[in-house]
Amino acid sequence: MPLLPTHRPRRNRKSEVIRNLVQENTLTVNDFIYPVFLIEGQNQAVEIHSMPGIYRLSADRLLDEIGQCVELGIRAFAPFPGLPDAVKDRLATQSTNPDGLYLKTIAEIKRQYPGVVLMTDVAMDPYSSDGHDGVVDPESGEILNDATLEILGQMALAQARAGSDIIGPSDMMDGRVAWIREVLDSNAFSHVSIMSYTAKYASAFYGPFRDALDSAPKRGDKKTYQMNPANRREALRELQLDEQEGADMVMVKPALSYLDVIRDVRQHTTLPVTAYNVSGEYAMVKAAAQNGWLDGERTMLEVLLSIKRAGADAILTYFAKEAAQVLRRG
Ligand code: PBG
Repeated sequence: MPLLPTHRPRRNRKSEVIRNLVQENTLTVNDFIYPVFLIEGQNQAVEIHSMPGIYRLSADRLLDEIGQCVELGIRAFAPFPGLPDAVKDRLATQSTNPDGLYLKTIAEIKRQYPGVVLMTDVAMDPYSSDGHDGVVDPESGEILNDATLEILGQMALAQARAGSDIIGPSDMMDGRVAWIREVLDSNAFSHVSIMSYTAKYASAFYGPFRDALDSAPKRGDKKTYQMNPANRREALRELQLDEQEGADMVMVKPALSYLDVIRDVRQHTTLPVTAYNVSGEYAMVKAAAQNGWLDGERTMLEVLLSIKRAGADAILTYFAKEAAQVLRRG
């Protein structure tokens, strides 16, 4: 006769109350930072075809959307600007224009909703005629690190002046955290935080985001600055540098194919760790759900919980609003 089990883990799963008692990780609306897309115009809401349910919004509509999200308990937003090609140039000069779309809208959001936290994006790509995060050498096509730092510093300063709470450098240039920290501190913005995109990989999962902003590189790819998806240790090297340079929070991006990296970063830092559940990760779940191949709502919650379980304290996610609605419903 085979031996009956003496250890029965199923006892801890026998009812919902017990399952809830022993649950190790939870998802709440406090975990979310909602990335939103801003475009010019009035009363504009243009759905992004590869991100069902996500819209590029003009400032007036974005303000309404933020109001609705605040009602649901979402308090942190990461706006990204989608600009017409006509205002893009080699040095991303629009990025520091206080009367430009992005900075004006940042200021207006903070005026109408002083309680929300805005994480603003520092990188050249939304403003760059080359579609790169850094300055492109016109002859060689090379991305010029140190020339880019100068621009990123000015961009961060302009965003701080507009009322940004957290500067989010998404560009992956070397030394940009220290550079931005110095520029902020020497201009009386020592209270403005930096959330570094610490381990940002050169990923195919950014496709829908580049559709949304029309920001794909015109030439080449981003592999000389974004990380090789094959690498794990290198994330820890980036982490050490970001810590030394003064980052307040660190990020891993994308999230789902990089849960191991989230865990590694969690284990090697005392700083808060965030993860960016990127556009392609959102698109995959939506596409499968629309086809009736997956239960979209359950998959969404499982995906978000997995990112927390891996070690993230907060998640940038396009699911923020939908998940907040589901969590509120209970
Ligand atoms: C670029 C940037 C990207 C994303 C955020 N900032 C794309 C890229 O590096 O090309 C992607 C976000 C997403 O896919 O949701 N500075």
